[in-house]
Amino acid sequence: MNENQLTELLEQMTLTEKVGQLIQLATPFFKGASDRGEITGPMENMNISEDDIKQTGSVLGASGAHETINIQKVHMEENRLGIPLLFMSDIIHGFRTIFPVPLAIGCSWDLELAEKSAAIAAKEAAVSGVHVTFAPMVDLSREPRWGRVMEATGEDTFLNSEFARSFVRGFQGDLVNDNHKVASCVKHFAAYGAPEGGRDYNTVDMSEWMLRENYLPAYKAALDEGAEMVMTAFNILNGMPSTGNEPLMRGILREEWGFDGVLISDWGAVKELIPHGVAEDQKQAAEKAMKAGVDIEMMTSCYVNHVKELIAEEKLEETIVDEAVLRILQLKNKLGLFEHPYRGASEEEENIHILSPEHRKASRELAAKSMVLLKNEDTLPLNQAGKVALVGPFAESTDILGPWSWGGSAEDTITVAAGFANYLDNDQLLVSQGCDIQNGSNEQFEDAINKAEQAEVIVVAIGEHSDMSGEAGCRADIRVPEVQLELLKKMKALGKPVVAVLFNGRPLDLREVIEHADAVVEAWYPGTEGGTALADLLYGEVNPSAKLTMSMPYSVGQVPIYYNRYNTGRPKDAPDAQERYVSQYLDIPNEPLYPFGYGLSYSRFEYGNMTLSAEQMTKEESLTVTINVTNTSDVAGEETVQMYVRDLVGDVVRPLKELKGFKKVYLQPGESVEVEFQLGEDQLRYYHADLEHKSDAGEFEVFVGTDSRDVQSKKFRLNS
Ligand code: NOJ
Repeated sequence: MNENQLTELLEQMTLTEKVGQLIQLATPFFKGASDRGEITGPMENMNISEDDIKQTGSVLGASGAHETINIQKVHMEENRLGIPLLFMSDIIHGFRTIFPVPLAIGCSWDLELAEKSAAIAAKEAAVSGVHVTFAPMVDLSREPRWGRVMEATGEDTFLNSEFARSFVRGFQGDLVNDNHKVASCVKHFAAYGAPEGGRDYNTVDMSEWMLRENYLPAYKAALDEGAEMVMTAFNILNGMPSTGNEPLMRGILREEWGFDGVLISDWGAVKELIPHGVAEDQKQAAEKAMKAGVDIEMMTSCYVNHVKELIAEEKLEETIVDEAVLRILQLKNKLGLFEHPYRGASEEEENIHILSPEHRKASRELAAKSMVLLKNEDTLPLNQAGKVALVGPFAESTDILGPWSWGGSAEDTITVAAGFANYLDNDQLLVSQGCDIQNGSNEQFEDAINKAEQAEVIVVAIGEHSDMSGEAGCRADIRVPEVQLELLKKMKALGKPVVAVLFNGRPLDLREVIEHADAVVEAWYPGTEGGTALADLLYGEVNPSAKLTMSMPYSVGQVPIYYNRYNTGRPKDAPDAQERYVSQYLDIPNEPLYPFGYGLSYSRFEYGNMTLSAEQMTKEESLTVTINVTNTSDVAGEETVQMYVRDLVGDVVRPLKELKGFKKVYLQPGESVEVEFQLGEDQLRYYHADLEHKSDAGEFEVFVGTDSRDVQSKKFRLNS
């Protein structure tokens, strides 16, 4: 259809039909769905009739070509104007082939593989009939207590923005011409990742300066890359729930950034304006959300039941509805749904693409590249000749896909034990669960001890089950559950080399794990090929290269903790610092256990002295920062060289370090490479007190190194 035809279509629509486009309902509401079991319950509660459903604009959570085609077919027959449904789903880190969780993908620092993972997820989802994915989630978070940190790529604004772009490119690509692509919905706008106390859905309050400086850029990056949709956040932001926040949605998102795509509420967030205390009833909630510019209401019925009345009472103008409907029709049109309502859905293609060997291979590669080697006292890689005791609740668990992997299944998941079988004969591998995630018995411990006594090395696979992170998965105690620590200690007491492997969705307080293991691998939730990838890494087939993108705290008492912090007026490490009246804890260090950017390799990389092409530059020039990196070990490996900057005197405070660039180098044993970074004035800009984004002439420090702590530095001047 062309734009005129879309407008004509809009003109033919009754108000009821228009309002129908603004609703999104879950699959069980629709005829043709495979499971309509819940239909009477939610339908009754929501006061939605079968007639309303015929007018509905979009479906949440349907998947599988068979089901999506069925639903669409019935709908096209029943909808007067034949307006097709949009199918939207949460395809977060894979669809059936599950990739590592996004936090883990972040630790790969591999933008190309991230893009590829999204492209594969898109293909599998598209052939199943999905049109839009609710991803990427780019909420910056410095809060490991918050369960949803696993959904984004870490604590750094620049890196998150780069990943946001990669994911959008991977999902959307040539959306208009390629049926294997899905539209991308960036979420959750805005600042959902900063809830007070790390508790989900909780209050967010921050200055506009902080918001613009750190929290908004990744959403903007996703939109600059062309993301078609935006989802609102559940939280309040500076006193106003995001979903009814006109200055945020109409002001920043639409007017300032020029976003003209579809804005959808999060699940039930329109109705939640009532418990938030800014709407007295569903009618007022509908009014506020519509006025704020929320086009689609997800899974509540405030719009369907009240928008017409609001228009009749002249509390809302019909043009607001028309604009919203047009945006939705435009998206449907862009996806080609008017001509091809089933779009990419095809059972035949599902059989070809879903969980194809190529997809599994990509998942395995990215999983191994996402696992961070935190400690290694000459223990790894393991020797294939030896006998291994594999103990712990994750030894044979299929719960390694992580939250948001509803499309993945246990049968398709390669466990750690199965992965080890690629490298060992049956009699070399002794497996024991050792304990459960939260509980254990003496018999379980004894079995583990018995097996461990027969082995040369003990691999202890421990962590959090997947419900312990993700949405509503917050924890105040961010340690590995006590019983698993007990298991680890019992293993260590046997006096054999112990490798701890962690499966979890957030940075943890790992002090006890580090103390009781000779080597520690943070495997996160690695996905479908998790077991294979881990074995590849532990047996040296893959050399670890991942680096943390969230600081690993020393203790929960430090959080929020992030590397790009400000100095304070009384920094602890100042040369003239007093003993007491400095910014510090009396009982724990200020520093995290492992800093942002940290991760070991089986290779050893040595850095030469950094050089700058000049000590000064004008705003039109750029500097070249050069450093030599040599692999001094006898193992080929990959290093991520990181560049940070500090603006020594600003109009407002500046972080002690800010990531401005990184380069990956793959070096053979003995090989050296010159790594070069360009640094220009545009990378030195920041939000001033008046919220202007610009640089200041003056002195800067540039750092290069292997992580955010272990760096060398040089100063330069920016001249006006
Ligand atoms: C609630 C979550 O906050 C959001 O991320 C997700 O996309 C929706 N539910 C839909 O499942």
